[in-house]
Amino acid sequence: MEFKNYIEIVEDWPKEGIKFKDITPLMANGAAFKSAVDEIVDYAENKEIDLVVGPEARGFIVGCPVSYALEVGFAPVRKEGKLPREVIKVDYGLEYGENVLTIHKDAIKPGQRVLITDDLLATGGTIEATIKLVEQLGGIVVGCAFLVELGYLDGKDKLEGYDVLTLMTY
Ligand code: PRP
Repeated sequence: MEFKNYIEIVEDWPKEGIKFKDITPLMANGAAFKSAVDEIVDYAENKEIDLVVGPEARGFIVGCPVSYALEVGFAPVRKEGKLPREVIKVDYGLEYGENVLTIHKDAIKPGQRVLITDDLLATGGTIEATIKLVEQLGGIVVGCAFLVELGYLDGKDKLEGYDVLTLMTY
């Protein structure tokens, strides 16, 4: 399937100079969304995944159907102040801003094999912070899956040594 047909490029959003890749048309199309999720599930199937982890907010949209299909749990990584119990946190920079990401301290058991999902790999700051959180809790990152990669921002440089799947590259 040509997934790019379902991505809307929005100029100058949320800031001037950013060409935002809107995945909502892909999500709105049942066949396209299923096909994208299925590709990630196929990629993950022989990796003996114990848990899927995804960062707020669009990492949930990709990760939850994948975790459901793999019949494993999903742990959310959230911006500061959103998770109700004890968390660990990491600062990170992103394509347009600065932020803090957190995960519940008991979200991952040491040795668990984790698939990280997100909609988009841009500078790689979000995924790098998410990997740090997973590894600080003793999880093993066995794969990182994205719908979209912005190749010109070199986010993959931050993922050297990790197994990465991206369904589309701009
Ligand atoms: C976007 C996107 C990725 C991240 C990619 O999320 O969904 O998570 O940025 O950028 P990076 O590779 O440069 O870190 P955003 O932080 O805008 O959060 P949202 O999904 O809650 O809108």
